[in-house]
Amino acid sequence: MHRLFLLLLFLPFAVCATEPNPSRGDPAAIDLGRQVFQANCARCHGAEATQPSAEAPDLRRLNAFCQQLKDSALQARCLQDVDSYFMMAVNTGKIRAGIVYMPPWRDVLTAQEIWAVRSFVESRPPAAPRLKTSVDIDHAAY
Ligand code: HEC
Repeated sequence: MHRLFLLLLFLPFAVCATEPNPSRGDPAAIDLGRQVFQANCARCHGAEATQPSAEAPDLRRLNAFCQQLKDSALQARCLQDVDSYFMMAVNTGKIRAGIVYMPPWRDVLTAQEIWAVRSFVESRPPAAPRLKTSVDIDHAAY
């Protein structure tokens, strides 16, 4: 009885716990990631991970918030969250109301290849800063 309670209590944490990208910054993984990206992702997310099509986001922007964090431990935790989002998004694709914005990749790519793609994207020069948001513009008016 007691054990069942503990299991139910900690199961959500066990299920949510994810590993950070094990190949971050690894040159061999970046090479592999470039090949996998060019073959599978470039047609929507842009050759060399820059200049994506109008519909597909620039994947370099996923780390933008984490990169602003000064505390290195916090930044590592932040990147780990983005890692797990990246893995989930790529595995399951983007399908809403039956419309396939991005197909799922889980039966096409291995986890090692998906991590390699993330490492490759991180190796690219950063995206140009976004234009000001309407909130910034509104604030500047006062
Ligand atoms: C057919 C075009 C297409 C291909 C090919 C494609 N994607 Fe996408 N991807 C999209 C679109 C469109 C979105 C945004 C979907 C939405 O609005 O929900 C997206 C979203 C994503 C996201 C979420 C980004 C975010 O800002 O939330 C990730 C991560 C991603 N793609 C990675 C990849 C990777 C890695 C590959 C190659 C293995 C790939 N995609 C191939 C079209 C594509």
